[in-house]
Amino acid sequence: MNTKVVSSQAFNDQKPGTSGLRKKVTDFQKPHYLENFVQSIFDSLNIPKNATLTLGGDGRYYNREAIQIIIKMAAANGFKRVLVGQAGILSTPAASCIIRKYKTFGGIILSASHNPGGIDGDFGIKYNTENGGPAPEKITEAIFEKSKNIQSYNIIEAPDVALDVIGETDLFGMKVQVIDAVADYAELMESLFDFNAIKDLLASGFRMKFDAMHAVTGPYAQEIFINQLGAPPDSIMNCVPLPDFGGGHPDPNLTYADELVDILYGENAPDFGAASDGDGDRNMILGKGFFVTPSDSLALIAANAKMVKGYTKGIAGVARSMPTSGAVDMVAKSLDIPCFETPTGWKFFGNLMDADQVTLCGEESFGTGSSHVREKDGLWAVLFWLNILAIKRQSVEQIVKRHWLQFGRNVYSRHDYEDLSLDAAKGIIDHLRNHFTSLSGQSFGRYTIKSCDDFSYTDPIDGSISAQQGLRILFNDGSRIVFRLSGTGTSGATLRIYLEAFEPDSNKHHLDAQVALAEMIQIALQISELKQRTGRDKPTVIT
Ligand code: G1P
Ligand code: ZN
Repeated sequence: MNTKVVSSQAFNDQKPGTSGLRKKVTDFQKPHYLENFVQSIFDSLNIPKNATLTLGGDGRYYNREAIQIIIKMAAANGFKRVLVGQAGILSTPAASCIIRKYKTFGGIILSASHNPGGIDGDFGIKYNTENGGPAPEKITEAIFEKSKNIQSYNIIEAPDVALDVIGETDLFGMKVQVIDAVADYAELMESLFDFNAIKDLLASGFRMKFDAMHAVTGPYAQEIFINQLGAPPDSIMNCVPLPDFGGGHPDPNLTYADELVDILYGENAPDFGAASDGDGDRNMILGKGFFVTPSDSLALIAANAKMVKGYTKGIAGVARSMPTSGAVDMVAKSLDIPCFETPTGWKFFGNLMDADQVTLCGEESFGTGSSHVREKDGLWAVLFWLNILAIKRQSVEQIVKRHWLQFGRNVYSRHDYEDLSLDAAKGIIDHLRNHFTSLSGQSFGRYTIKSCDDFSYTDPIDGSISAQQGLRILFNDGSRIVFRLSGTGTSGATLRIYLEAFEPDSNKHHLDAQVALAEMIQIALQISELKQRTGRDKPTVIT
């Protein structure tokens, strides 16, 4: 085999975050940059003989080039087989499904999730382990350590492998198997949901609109919604994946999925709307003129799980990230099942799912999922909703409002301040942390602060401790404000402020969240000295 050992200077200065390494495309294009990181991944693992690697990405700019490099490096590093999605495509949940189904030795996923793509956009890479989930911290730490000191990498000299046709190529003894990117995932979805019931719903005049935001879920939506469930072709939009996502920001929220939002809030709106992000793991759910917060969506899915084919036996437990609202806690209480509060980031759910402690989990950041894979799963959430709608035959708004009647409403919103200077953002966190004692007991109109803390999590399965995971300002009536710095941004610092107020009074359930949270918002601004410290007077994104 023509293995080359290439001398390379290490220059990775960025610790992989909860979702792997994310950088500008132009950083990844620098000579040896991607290669150094991939070799650091391989050097951090004990790769067994006959190991198979799953490989695919969200199709963003540089996806194809990176796939070719990684295939050649896998061959030089002793892998026996690579399973690669056709055209180099695999959504993140589909990659997790493939790793689990074919029991491969983990996988490499190329994606910067919802970050913009294109030559001036972002690129990303992450390693998922054999359980199909993101690598735990001890592996990402090891990768980072290696990447700081690496001096060379192994790659074979070979022509590029054809990726567009399903089939197998031999690359100096390593098999490169190009697989259908959609089929295994679609089969898994069919095993979990009642496709016949959803088909009936879609044939009954019920109208839906799914927005793939020109990202990876396009081909998945075409196959599942149109080909298998018989939805009319205009039920999906922006379903041709583009390397720059059509210039958009493929993040399914009220700001960036505005094209879909306008349709659902416009004249002659369809009954149901949904969108997914760059790599297909996030979801946004909309009804006619109605937005379902991701925290409510998780609670609702949990409350109705038993009526859905794959979950009829009931759910073992639920988990939510700390900043996610407590709506699902109410459901867990009524079902008498455990509810775990974890730090932000999907990887914290993996251990709980592997130990069968939880079946469903979610984050306020438009991520919902279950133990069917080890990633959050956008289309899975959309199908879950369709299945519930097919059974209940009520509108999305009715379903949510009836849920609130039963469980109370956790009014919720997140305000993001993007692209702040790191000093200003850290300054806010330090300022709050230093004032925990004096804040406790302070009253602001009807709200009194009960306590403040810095969220720390001890993993109940492996005992590992994750400290400083966000500041919690807890009020007497159960309302809260959480302050946290983003770990995924690639330019400047992003401060996230999470606002939550519990509202048992159904006469106030019609209120818009921003109106219902107005006082909390003022308190957050006042105690953080946000305006003085950043010069900003409004958030960049409100979700
Ligand atoms: C964000 C979300 C978080 C999610 C992560 C990866 O991270 O807030 O819930 O797990 O993206 O999709 P953050 O930028 O807040 O660190
Ligand atoms: Zn994503």
